[in-house]
Amino acid sequence: MKVLMIGAGDIAKSHARAVEKLGGEIVGAFDVSENALKSFKKEFYCDVISYEQIPEYVEKADYAVISTPPTKRLDYVEMVLSKHVPLYLEKPIATTLEDAEKIVAMAKQYDAKIIVGFAHRFRPAFVKMYDMVKSGMFGEPVNVFSYRVGAGFGYGKNNAMYGNSWRTDPKLACGMTIESVSHEFNLLTSLAGEFDTIACNVKGTISNVPQFDTNSTMVMRCKNGAVASIMTSWSSGAGANLKGYIGTNGSILLRGRNMFEFDSLTYKTVDMDHEESITFNDSYDLNKDEVIYHVHVYFQDCLKNNKPVEIGGLSEGMKVLKLSNAALKSAKEQKTIALGDYYTL
Ligand SMILES: NC(=O)c1ccc[n+]([C@@H]2O[C@H](COP(=O)([O-])OP(=O)(O)OC[C@H]3O[C@@H](n4cnc5c(N)ncnc54)[C@H](O)[C@@H]3O)[C@@H](O)[C@H]2O)c1
Repeated sequence: MKVLMIGAGDIAKSHARAVEKLGGEIVGAFDVSENALKSFKKEFYCDVISYEQIPEYVEKADYAVISTPPTKRLDYVEMVLSKHVPLYLEKPIATTLEDAEKIVAMAKQYDAKIIVGFAHRFRPAFVKMYDMVKSGMFGEPVNVFSYRVGAGFGYGKNNAMYGNSWRTDPKLACGMTIESVSHEFNLLTSLAGEFDTIACNVKGTISNVPQFDTNSTMVMRCKNGAVASIMTSWSSGAGANLKGYIGTNGSILLRGRNMFEFDSLTYKTVDMDHEESITFNDSYDLNKDEVIYHVHVYFQDCLKNNKPVEIGGLSEGMKVLKLSNAALKSAKEQKTIALGDYYTL
């Protein structure tokens, strides 16, 4: 399929590699940074286009990928959707509910087909965990959790880890709770259902960018009565990832060497004598392209076969942003937030 890239930074290259691996081509790439475009053009044979050319190139594409910083998207979303071209929108869909609502309104106006980049939801280790949980073998949810720590943007001497990024630019920063915990909300609610309450604390580690929280820890109660928790940090040189589902009839753990590694599943039901494990060695650190690839496989299947986007559509993007906002409100006001019907658009 023919794909237009709006934003040609780091993750855009993984998107472009996925498109090419699937036999498709990049028809054009736009970015505000000449350096980013130069680097993109070195690897991908495509037209490098100006802002004014975007509408013309949207028309040449089977879908567009927007991977600009999440505060810089509304005009691009309008340019894509108004031409009735499907959209792969990177998460988080926006940083404010106001912007997100504008995107939802545009999606309704143009009857848009959108997938949001909740890529971890499509990784084989998580898909296996999800399928086993949904088979009922572990029973009803009792306790679900995600703990992941590692060195993220802003880690290290002079906050230098990964160099300059929109993430630590005071004008563009949104923080970890909005950018990255979005994945955990997506994964845990898929396993255990929607949350009823949330209580959170955050801590930033860069004094001149207070909104850039690099540590986010929270507890939730699920609507079905299960308890849930998330603990994430970008401030740890040592890395680890542990996600779990503890049910009334057994439990399953997803373990990783570092914060985004999905190495193995270990599980045991009350009827099993011993726990069993399945090894995946699915590494985001070593092969980010493969992680993004799975989402393109799914999205292209939806587009080619005219199927609805049932996993990771725009309503999931909106729901997760509402959860991030509620978590930050809880941290700011130091109280537990009752979520009500946050998940209905
Ligand atoms: N799903 C995932 O697993 C995953 C992984 C990494 C990043 N992301 C998301 O992708 C998005 C981009 O992240 P990244 O790591 O590629 O960042 P990045 O900084 O590497 O790339 C962003 C690009 O956007 C460009 N840009 C900035 N302002 C722009 C504007 N107004 N118009 C056009 N281009 C503009 C920058 O020049 C840069 O090249 C973020 O929302 C991030 O959360 C998702």
